[in-house]
Amino acid sequence: MRIGESLSHWLTPEWESWFLDFAQKEKLLREDEDFRNDRFLRRSVIPHIRNLSELFNRKAEASPSDGYWSSSSNSPNLWLSYFLSFQLFNMTRVASIWEELHRLGYDREKRPIRRILELGAGLSAGASGILLGERHGPNGLDGSVRIATIEAQRSVSRLGQKWLESFGPWLGAPDLAIDAFVRRLTPQELLPPKAPKFDVILSSYFMNESLESPQVWARAIHGLIEHHLEEEGLFILCEPALQEQSRKVLEVRQELLKLWDKKPLAKILTPCLGHQACGALAKEGDWCHEETSWWRPQWLKLMDQELKLDHRTLPFSYLVLAKSQRSLGAILPKVGSQVPYRLVSPPHKVGRGCEFYVCCHLGKSKTRSKVKLDVERGDVLLDLSIEQKSDRWQILN
Ligand SMILES: C[S@@+](CC[C@H](N)C(=O)[O-])C[C@H]1O[C@@H](n2cnc3c(N)ncnc32)[C@H](O)[C@@H]1O
Repeated sequence: MRIGESLSHWLTPEWESWFLDFAQKEKLLREDEDFRNDRFLRRSVIPHIRNLSELFNRKAEASPSDGYWSSSSNSPNLWLSYFLSFQLFNMTRVASIWEELHRLGYDREKRPIRRILELGAGLSAGASGILLGERHGPNGLDGSVRIATIEAQRSVSRLGQKWLESFGPWLGAPDLAIDAFVRRLTPQELLPPKAPKFDVILSSYFMNESLESPQVWARAIHGLIEHHLEEEGLFILCEPALQEQSRKVLEVRQELLKLWDKKPLAKILTPCLGHQACGALAKEGDWCHEETSWWRPQWLKLMDQELKLDHRTLPFSYLVLAKSQRSLGAILPKVGSQVPYRLVSPPHKVGRGCEFYVCCHLGKSKTRSKVKLDVERGDVLLDLSIEQKSDRWQILN
């Protein structure tokens, strides 16, 4: 997914100074420590990130009830390590999703966004991602915003609240009020009936921590949208790009479409730009994911090097729904009445032209252009003229 220059470079030296100050105030660092110091990173941060990565990649065995937050005898170092890695990655992912809506002209008919809810909030990366995204691609956040977070672990929830209370003003974000709720959510009851309505509900890297089926999650999301999302509100789901977790997102989407057979409760905005049958699910073992390229400061590059990871790009899966009866073209005017085609792979050179996979109202297919196109994964091409060949589609215009 293309993101703007300013969002891709958001980790500035000014952010580093703010974070140093925040981390020292919250006693995640001593006065004489600096997270950018190689020795400090190697000793106090990298081992925690290695452990967390292993736990996140072994989901089925290590559910959050195993308490990965408290698995360390040194929680401040663990929290610091999450802030310096997964927090920044997930925020940037959510900010990219937010900025894409802006790029597609997202129009809420001038209804300001005043209330945001993050489920399974951890240290509030998802909500922070919206604030960050709004800074670089505004979608109508009000001057005064109330953010609710729900998180199972009390100490994490409290620290996430402090992060938001400090990061928001640093970003120049509007007047913020934060309600940090400590609760163990189940898809059977995500919110109590008396809970209020929100303009945006989001879940970032949370659904994958649950072993419940896509059917159960689809019903849960349907219920949330029906009872707790304002008209024209957004529901945002951001999940890992791995095959299993990504297919779960696609299956949730498919189950929602089944529930909405007669009358859709919401519109599927991105990435699909429509309610067509999923092109990736059509094939066993296939899946769909996005990738954001961004700029990493030196200390993040060092962490990647040591951990043998590569965060030059941030892969993820996502789904954005709008509770609206308006047409997709009215909600996303840059698409308007044109037919959208989404690149779901990077392009490869073929002769003088290029080839890539495209997903659209017709399904998913290998697609070839006779001329070289300046395109990348995630780009939306409009009103293509396509000829269907036996093994691929050919772009004619
Ligand atoms: C991987 S973290 C993601 C945190 C944050 N949303 C992000 O994007 O970085 C998942 C969080 O969900 C919390 N969590 C897991 N299961 C939960 C449940 N049933 N109810 C509430 N929180 C839960 C975990 O404690 C953890 O903080």
